[in-house]
Amino acid sequence: MDVFELLAKDHRKVEDLLERLSGVAPDRADEREQLFAQLKTELEIHSTVEEEVFYPALEAREATRDEAEEAEEAHAEVRELLAELDAMPKDDPEWAERLGELKLEVLQHVRDEENEIFADARAALTNEQIEDLGRRVTARKQQLEAADGS
Ligand SMILES: [Fe+2]
Repeated sequence: MDVFELLAKDHRKVEDLLERLSGVAPDRADEREQLFAQLKTELEIHSTVEEEVFYPALEAREATRDEAEEAEEAHAEVRELLAELDAMPKDDPEWAERLGELKLEVLQHVRDEENEIFADARAALTNEQIEDLGRRVTARKQQLEAADGS
């Protein structure tokens, strides 16, 4: 699997979790808690891998530098919202509203990456570099998943 397929697969998983989580009623705080924990882990691992492996390769090239920097800013927003959601009681009336904000932010990030950044990266990188990134993303994800214990 190349790096783009790997990252897109994470995106599908995160979208699915967001969808399921938005459908959980406020009185099912335990279910919210459990799905949110999964979503948070997924997003943290995905963001870390992109920041450590994928974006540095893009920042090294003029054509993709600005995009990678913008994507990192979007990650910072996502992390902030995750921290807020984590700290809030899951039956708080504002929780769903905040989750809606996270969903918008994440879906926008996914669209930006898949519609623009991936195409520009494909053009800027050699096949060898793309394969190497895929290997490094896989290895780093495995490490982070093992450290998370799930
Ligand atoms: Fe991503």
